[in-house]
Amino acid sequence: MADQAFVTLATNDPYVKGALVLGSSLRNHNTTRKLVVLITPQVSDSIRKVLDKVFDVVRVVDVLDSEDSAHLALMQRPELGITLTKLHCWALTEYTKCVFMDADTMVLSNIDNLFEREELSAAPDPGWPDCFNSGVFVFQPSIETYNQLLQLATEKGSFDGGDQGLLNAFFSNWATKDIHKHLPFVYNLSSISIYSYLPAFKAFGADAKVVHFLGKVKPWNYTYDSKTKSVKSEMQDQTLIHPEFLNLWWDIYTTRILPLLTEHGAVKDASTGLKVEEVTEAVAQMSIAAPPQPSISSEECRERWEQGQADYMGADSYENIRKKLDSYLQ
Ligand code: UDP
Ligand code: GLC
Ligand code: MN
Repeated sequence: MADQAFVTLATNDPYVKGALVLGSSLRNHNTTRKLVVLITPQVSDSIRKVLDKVFDVVRVVDVLDSEDSAHLALMQRPELGITLTKLHCWALTEYTKCVFMDADTMVLSNIDNLFEREELSAAPDPGWPDCFNSGVFVFQPSIETYNQLLQLATEKGSFDGGDQGLLNAFFSNWATKDIHKHLPFVYNLSSISIYSYLPAFKAFGADAKVVHFLGKVKPWNYTYDSKTKSVKSEMQDQTLIHPEFLNLWWDIYTTRILPLLTEHGAVKDASTGLKVEEVTEAVAQMSIAAPPQPSISSEECRERWEQGQADYMGADSYENIRKKLDSYLQ
């Protein structure tokens, strides 16, 4: 099975932590396939040494970025343009078939049977089920496909600014053509679905094979109490209705990954496992509300808009534009 691999991507050190937990979870469930991680030059040297321990192949690739701030702002995820870097996975032609998994996924059982599926197999997106979610998918490396994807990205862009919009436009008959290419939802159970459809989670959640911590706040952004073996909760945090997956992620992280990170000098604070700058980043990410925008006059606002410098995350956000349109309609 040396010609088949699980592939993930991490463009920075925080996402590497996710990749390490994912890799460890795949090994723990005795996968017989190779483990490959794509990284970009930004990833620090000390953490690369730890990646070498968990993955068979650590491949450095260039950053591909859509820089499509308008579409990404609609999703309120300006950071996702960089997810186009994922496309490099099609260039791994030393493998005949691969399964791509986001760095914010974790496996709960052996999923090697996914290699029986054909390109492009994926599970429905919880937000728009006629699209597939690109956090877990089966694909066939091919330079031809890689070039076609890059061409589509350059010519037409992606409707969500990230890889998922592009891949859904490329594999556009996924929704209707072949039901075998629809992976059961339990192969990409997004944590959002747990609270958005709690009765279904209660009925089918026990069959979950892959959990996907989809959304802005990732497991590594939480604080974990290793004495109680639980993440510290904010009363209003809906993602903590069923914290068992988050707690499991942290259990793997503290027992298997943190000792490796400490051994290779990749963490400074052994109690949280976070470098000082990452603690600051985590705190910033936890304050979901947009930071206050410097106030500018409406003339200035209009001028900037007309020059194509719209402030999609602030004054010109979709929500503000909608409110304005509503006020005209009333
Ligand atoms: N990713 C990355 N660096 C980033 C953002 C994303 O390496 O700064 C990779 C990582 O593999 C991640 C995937 O792209 O899991 C998709 O992004 P994310 O999981 O944050 O998107 P979501 O699933 O929350 O929509
Ligand atoms: C999605 C997917 C993620 C993808 C992102 C950007 O929500 O979960 O894998 O990178 O959208 O397209
Ligand atoms: Mn994800």
